[in-house]
Amino acid sequence: MEKLRILIVDDEENIRHMLSILLRKEGYEVSAVGDGEEALKSLLAQQWDLALCDVRMPKMGGLELIDAVVERDISTTVIAMSAFGNREMAVEALKRGAYDYIDKPFKRDEILLTLAKAEERLQLKRENASLRGGEADGVFQGLVGSSEPMRALFETLSKVARYKSTVLITGESGTGKELAARAVHTLSPRAQKPWVAVNCGAIPENLLESELFGHVRGAFTDATHDKLGLFEQAHEGTLFLDEIGEMPPSLQVKLLRVLQEGEVRRVGGTRNIPVDVRVVAATLHDLGERVEEGHFREDLYYRLNVINVTLPPLRERAEDIGELVRYFVDKQNKRLGTAINGVSAEAMKIILDYAWPGNVRELQNCIERGVVLANGPKIDASVLPQRILEGNDELQQLFDSDELSIKKMSADLERILIRRALEKTGGNRTHAAKLLEISHRTLLYKIKDYDLETVGVE
Ligand SMILES: Nc1ncnc2c1ncn2[C@@H]1O[C@H](COP(=O)(O)OP(=O)(O)OP(=O)(O)O)[C@@H](O)[C@H]1O
Ligand SMILES: [Mg+2]
Repeated sequence: MEKLRILIVDDEENIRHMLSILLRKEGYEVSAVGDGEEALKSLLAQQWDLALCDVRMPKMGGLELIDAVVERDISTTVIAMSAFGNREMAVEALKRGAYDYIDKPFKRDEILLTLAKAEERLQLKRENASLRGGEADGVFQGLVGSSEPMRALFETLSKVARYKSTVLITGESGTGKELAARAVHTLSPRAQKPWVAVNCGAIPENLLESELFGHVRGAFTDATHDKLGLFEQAHEGTLFLDEIGEMPPSLQVKLLRVLQEGEVRRVGGTRNIPVDVRVVAATLHDLGERVEEGHFREDLYYRLNVINVTLPPLRERAEDIGELVRYFVDKQNKRLGTAINGVSAEAMKIILDYAWPGNVRELQNCIERGVVLANGPKIDASVLPQRILEGNDELQQLFDSDELSIKKMSADLERILIRRALEKTGGNRTHAAKLLEISHRTLLYKIKDYDLETVGVE
C-alpha cells in the first residue's frame, strides 16, 4: 500500500512538531497546519487520507472543520484530538462525522493503534470501491445521478481526466459544474497536486491579471512584494477558471498566450516562467454565442473548448430527483443529527412536477430547509417553499382570476415571464433579455419595477 498522507491540524507548535516526527518515523507522509481554516484550504487543494485534528483552535475550530469536511464531501477521514476528560467534545466530534478521537496528552502506542485502525478501514473502503468500480451506487465524485445523461457524463469525466487537455464545462446554474471540474482533477494523475479555483467573474478586472499571473514588487503602487499568481500556484496541478465567460477581453488575450506557450509572465516582470497546469473552465453562458456577439475571443474559445462537457439541467433528468432527495436528506440528517425519513408522497409529487430552474442547487436548498422545518418523520408539502408549491400553477391562477383590466393582467403576466426567464438563466440578464425578446435595458428597467432584483441570483 502507498504511504498514507496525514494532515496534522493543531494550534500548538509543540504538538505539530512532536506528531510530525513520530508519524514520519512510522513511514507516513505528513504535513501540519495551525488552524481549521488553513486545514480546509489544504484539504480542498490536495488529497489527504487522514486528518488528525485538534478540537479547540483559533479561527476555525475542529468541529467546524469536521462540518466543512462533511458538507463538501471531502473524503479525508478525520480523527479528533481533545484534552483528556473533555468527553463531550469528543462525542460531539464523532456525532458530526469524525471517525475516531484521541485524548490529549496521548501515548505513542495509542496514536499508532488508532491510525492503524483507520488505515485498515480505508483499505477496506478502497477495496470495496474498486470492486464496485466507484463509490456508492449512483454517486460519482459527489455527483448523484443514474439517468442516462448523467451516466454518460460520468464516463466522459473519467475518460478526459487522464489527459492534460483543456476541458470546458457548460451548463445552467446549479447543475454541478464545479463538482464536475473537481472530478476531473481528482480522477487525474494530478490528484495529489494542487487544485486551484478562481471565479473570473468575481474579481475586478484590474486585480484579475495579477491574481492569475502574479506580479513583481513595484509593478504598481500596492505591489510591495512579489506575488505568486494562481497559474504558478497550480503548477503541476489543475487550475479551475470558473465563469470564464465573464473574463474581460484584455485578459482573454493574455490567457490565450499562456495556454499556448505554457509560460506566464508576472505583471511588471521581464522573465517568462514555465508552468505545467491543466486548465478546466466553466461557464453558464453559451460561449459560442458570446463569440458571435463579440464578447469572447474566438481563438480562446477554440483553445478552451478542446473537450466540452455539458451538465444537463435537472428538468431533463427527472429520474434523478428521487435519488438526489434521498442523498440530501441523508446528508442533512448526518449534519444536524436529525432522523428525517425522506419526503411525503404529496411533497414528492410536487417536487417532481416542479421545473427546478435553479437545478440541483435549488433542490438541495429546498431539502435542507425541509429537514430543518419538518414537523414529523417526513418532509411534507407544508414546509416546501411557496414558489415550489405555486410551481407552474401561477399562470393558471392568473387566468382563473376575475381580473378584466388589460393593464393589470399584462403586468402580472409580464412579471411571471421575467421571473421565469431570470430563474432559467440563473439571473443572467443578457441571456434573459434574449429569451424574453426585449432589450437588455428594458429588462433592467422592468426588473427594478417589478422588484425582481434577486431572482436567480444567490
Ligand atoms: N449531481 C449532483 N449531485 C449532488 N450534488 C449536486 C449535484 N449537482 C450539483 N450539486 C450540488 O449543488 C450545488 C451547486 O453545484 P455547483 O456549484 O457545482 O453548480 P454550478 O453548475 O457550478 O453552478 P453555478 O453556475 O451557479 O456556479 C452544490 O452544493 C453541489 O454540491
Ligand atoms: Mg459554479
